[in-house]
Amino acid sequence: MPYFSLCCLLATMAAIVTAEKPYLLRLKFSTRPGDKSYSSRLVDEFTAHFIANNPGVEVRDSFIAPNNIPHLSYEEQEAGRVPEAKQSEEDQRHFKLASDLTGELIGASAVVIGTPMFNWGPPSALKAYVDRVVNVRTFQTPPVNLISGLPITLIIASGGPYSSDAPNSRPHMDFLRPYLKQVFTILGSSEDDLLFVNGDPTGPIDRGLLQESDASSGMSRARALLPAAAARIKRGDSGKSEL
Ligand SMILES: Cc1cc2nc3c(=O)[nH]c(=O)nc-3n(C[C@H](O)[C@H](O)[C@H](O)COP(=O)(O)O)c2cc1C
Repeated sequence: MPYFSLCCLLATMAAIVTAEKPYLLRLKFSTRPGDKSYSSRLVDEFTAHFIANNPGVEVRDSFIAPNNIPHLSYEEQEAGRVPEAKQSEEDQRHFKLASDLTGELIGASAVVIGTPMFNWGPPSALKAYVDRVVNVRTFQTPPVNLISGLPITLIIASGGPYSSDAPNSRPHMDFLRPYLKQVFTILGSSEDDLLFVNGDPTGPIDRGLLQESDASSGMSRARALLPAAAARIKRGDSGKSEL
């Protein structure tokens, strides 16, 4: 075999061996045990639909439990602003967790995030995650849009009603959905890429006023959205989330 053809063959084989399998990235931010958390249970139900819709796609929980992501230290804040090519060895060490979380996010073919609302905004663990993935690699001028076309499903649980589909909703007190929309838009998501699945309000279920299975409960309304949400996956380089 001519030398050039052999090189091409070896390069192709190496690409096949190193190419990562497509994966669904799951991030759960509830502080409750899985079976007691509305948002985590909806993430699990989303996953079951996703597996049925996308056989062969790996399901991957983040390599670090989302509730274990530490607040940024001073050194980590500074390292997260130094362009990667200019980072010292020490910067690289301080940037590693942010870089690994960023790589895991931008490498995914679909993402599902389950989170409660805490005090009208994100729980601190979700904020700690955002403070890692918004960094010199992802947030630049002009924008680098590293996650454009990546379908992201945001499953939200809150005791009270804040989403547009909930009865007696108080959207003016909702700082969680606008916050998440802003963050992912800055990283490159389009309106089509982001899909909210609203599990609110959970309070009436906790108080025994509604059954989860009642058609008007937040959980029932959220469940109705899961099959379509879980059908979305980024394919190839079309740059668009596909159904
Ligand atoms: C610290 C804390 C703050 C909360 N803040 C709010 C809030 O601002 N609005 C609300 O409707 N529910 C609030 N809740 C209730 C939770 O959002 C609700 O119980 C939700 O179902 C929790 O999600 P999970 O079941 O997935 O853990 C709060 C709960 C806790 C523990």
